[in-house]
Amino acid sequence: MAKRQLLMLGIRASFHTIAAVLVAGVIFTAVYLSRNGLPKEIPQRDGVSDSGESGRECNLFEGKWVYDNESYPLYKEEECKFMSDQLACEKFGRKDSSYRFWRWQPHTCDLPRFNGTKLLERLRNKRMVYVGDSLNRGQWVSMVCMVSSAITNPKLMYMHNNGSNLITFKSLEYNATIDFYWAPLLVESNSDDPTNHRLPERIVRIQSIEKHARHWTESDIIVLNSYLWWRRPHIKTLWGSFEKLDGIYKEVEMVRVYEMALQTLSQWLEVHVNSNLTKLFFMSMSPTHERAEEWGGKVKQNCYGENSLIDKEGYNGKGSDPKMMRIVENMLDGLKKRGMNMQMINITQLSEYRKDGHPSIYRKQWEALKEDEILNPSSYSDCIHWCLPGVPDVWNQLLYAYIVDGHHS
Ligand SMILES: *[C@@H]1O[C@H](CO)[C@@H](O)[C@H](O)[C@H]1NC(C)=O
Ligand SMILES: *[C@@H]1O[C@H](CO)[C@@H](O)[C@H](O)[C@H]1NC(C)=O
Ligand SMILES: *[C@@H]1O[C@H](CO)[C@@H](O)[C@H](O)[C@H]1NC(C)=O
Ligand SMILES: *[C@@H]1O[C@H](CO)[C@@H](O)[C@H](O)[C@H]1NC(C)=O
Ligand SMILES: *[C@@H]1O[C@H](CO)[C@@H](O)[C@H](O)[C@H]1NC(C)=O
Ligand SMILES: *[C@@H]1O[C@H](CO)[C@@H](O)[C@H](O)[C@H]1NC(C)=O
Repeated sequence: MAKRQLLMLGIRASFHTIAAVLVAGVIFTAVYLSRNGLPKEIPQRDGVSDSGESGRECNLFEGKWVYDNESYPLYKEEECKFMSDQLACEKFGRKDSSYRFWRWQPHTCDLPRFNGTKLLERLRNKRMVYVGDSLNRGQWVSMVCMVSSAITNPKLMYMHNNGSNLITFKSLEYNATIDFYWAPLLVESNSDDPTNHRLPERIVRIQSIEKHARHWTESDIIVLNSYLWWRRPHIKTLWGSFEKLDGIYKEVEMVRVYEMALQTLSQWLEVHVNSNLTKLFFMSMSPTHERAEEWGGKVKQNCYGENSLIDKEGYNGKGSDPKMMRIVENMLDGLKKRGMNMQMINITQLSEYRKDGHPSIYRKQWEALKEDEILNPSSYSDCIHWCLPGVPDVWNQLLYAYIVDGHHS
């Protein structure tokens, strides 16, 4: 994703504003605690935990990072044969290692320990699919690494990638499938090619999702995301098809287009998915760390060279857009009113603290670097994606808490 384009944006609404707006409708992730302090049941629908019971409420997304080099990382980079060169920071020269050793500690309970075998058992004869952009793909790679480290016989798993939008990971022993489907804007767009999608202009067909959705609808667990590809002031929308020449194009304010796209998504889900049978998740925005001055660093620097966390509680950078978060919440509320349950996995705040977690220069460079770039490493640093093992492992642990430890449908 073009870094310059991300830098251009920067919506300055403060998080306090939304905090005030988040009142009734927020999907509240209360967790009842069992006696040993592990989340046991997660109320799915009405969001308010029954505090008449013995448990306290636990919001898994409110907490802090704790250095823990005993239980982390959950797998070794070089041992995961499905690792991506975009995320393998150690392989590409990153020497500091602490980014791999942080555990997310919710304030009032513990995250359940990830157990790959248990997840595979839950996914037996089932299909889980991640749908979205490269952030979601990174999270999927993380999940595949976490799960495959529980599979001892390498013959009992495979990955299938034939260059289409769909990549499949499968455990033969459990007949469990974990897929990734590339659709960075969820609806149809001119960025749908899984490899050639860096186009100067972004065009979306705001009402068209079937071309993609028919490949992922028939799943038991669906994990969606879509955020960074929207970050420009205006988006060109197309009424008509990409193939025909008589389509009508219109520039529309991005926030409005994002809202329409999510409407298209939720209408599709309502008609085609029974949320009593299929678990639906939406990953909230993954923050970027493009401007060091936001956290008190040097002007014109970014995440390059960062190896510690931001310790200001409640820190939010300008890489996150609260307006877009609110649109997602509105979609979830709307679905809920119509009897559909989709859970937001609120990773935004917890990832904000992790300016140390990005690959920066330690990843495969697809194009040769120019001399002036080499002299100025921050100019080509990737402050968007996340090193693995690292932050996305924790996002998956949060998912795991819902999938394995939550209520079953
Ligand atoms: C996400 O979690 C953070 C930290 O608990 C919280 O401040 C924020 O309001 C949450 N956002 C949403 C949309 O739930
Ligand atoms: C964890 O870190 C501490 C302090 O840096 C060190 O003394 C200890 O040996 C480390 N433990 C492991 C398992 O690496
Ligand atoms: C992981 O789950 C499996 C199956 O439920 C269980 O047999 C095993 O003991 C668990 N492992 C750990 C370390 O808890
Ligand atoms: C294997 O899993 C798929 C779902 O991914 C399911 O449709 C199929 O019936 C399963 N096969 C068997 C033999 O249970
Ligand atoms: C690639 O795989 C997808 C899904 O498995 C299939 O629909 C498509 O036809 C395959 N394409 C090629 C070129 O093999
Ligand atoms: C889902 O479950 C609820 C509660 O059991 C039920 O009222 C509703 O009709 C179910 N929806 C579908 C589509 O089966």
